Amino acid sequence: MGLQASAKLKTGKDGGLARQRQLPLRPAGPDTVGALLSWYDAERRDLPWRYGRRKKPDPYRVWLSEIMLQQTTVKAVIPYFERFTLRWPTVSDLAAAPLEEVLQVWAGLGYYSRARNLKKCADVVAAQYGGQFPSKEEELRALPGIGPYTAAAIAAIAFGEKATPVDGNVERVVSRLFAVRQPLPGSKHEIKRLAASLTPARRAGDFAQGMMDLGAQICTPKRPSCLMCPLQQDCAAHAQGLEEVLPYKAGKAERPVRHGLAFLVLREDGSVLLRQRPEAGLLGGMLEVPSTPWGDEPPPVKEALRAAPLAADWWQMPGMVVHVFTHFRLEMMVVRALVPEDTGLTFWAEPDRCRWVKRRDLHTQALPSVMRKIIAHGLKES
Ligand code: ADE
Ligand code: SF4
Repeated sequence: MGLQASAKLKTGKDGGLARQRQLPLRPAGPDTVGALLSWYDAERRDLPWRYGRRKKPDPYRVWLSEIMLQQTTVKAVIPYFERFTLRWPTVSDLAAAPLEEVLQVWAGLGYYSRARNLKKCADVVAAQYGGQFPSKEEELRALPGIGPYTAAAIAAIAFGEKATPVDGNVERVVSRLFAVRQPLPGSKHEIKRLAASLTPARRAGDFAQGMMDLGAQICTPKRPSCLMCPLQQDCAAHAQGLEEVLPYKAGKAERPVRHGLAFLVLREDGSVLLRQRPEAGLLGGMLEVPSTPWGDEPPPVKEALRAAPLAADWWQMPGMVVHVFTHFRLEMMVVRALVPEDTGLTFWAEPDRCRWVKRRDLHTQALPSVMRKIIAHGLKES
């Protein structure tokens, strides 16, 4: 890491000039915060859960957006956010909805335990807090699905509490502003402390969102736009030519790969065979395309076919479906078959958990993205 840093330091004529121009450097402090807030007032992204400076934010919308934004991009979240808030305008409406419906509208956002916790949290806020979210970080943290980041984000953004949510964007901006050289994740505490030291008592929510927007638009992971950055005067990484190499990251292990073979069964009436997954574990309770168990090696196709949910002439689709989960990468082969309407299922297919779903109704089902990919792959012309 150290080598990489010194190699990237600009030592040539121009680099020397650039550094001279930056000095003397004032360390990030209250002036930095002022510069960030002015920039935020002028340049902030117009997002559906944000409000003008005169209108009070709605804690329900702030909470919903923060849960959806965990591990998902702003762009992907917006349509889901609009659909949720149109259908369930308040937390009490969401609490009154059946879990199955919430999962259906959530399908495609991934990480389904988040949707379950979302619903649990809505139930608690409706039942125990009379439909009003609590405002303090501590109380928020006690709610289902709300960790330290989300609690701080809601407290600051929805209630103006002096709290410091630190997400990936904030981590990057802070580690550059202060030129933190310790690699992530070991530096998380130090970054949190530095971010908290900047957080103002007034407008803590705008400060947090300003840092997020700066990280998303200016202080980007690759090629940050330091020339357009409102914090350039105060930035230690920029002064030292380290903006493109910070934050350092400790070497990361590769994700393991798991393999399986999925059986896409088309029935002559135009329906597809789906099965409900066990309640516990990955994608718990969601629907799936029946498959062999997922193992460490690709299953030999002939053997795998013995695990088919029914007897049929199987056709192997060329190529594979690859899906990246948090803890592993899944590589699925897909075979498909067309069967008559009276075809019975084998007992190991667990017929009780299986259902036939018309192709035109697939979009209404609680189907995770990986399963949608498998179906699309299996339905390709071949
Ligand atoms: N990422 C998570 N929360 C956000 C917010 N409130 N604004 C922008 N990006 C975010
Ligand atoms: Fe990021 Fe560059 Fe701004 Fe520093 S000057 S905060 S590195 S964009």
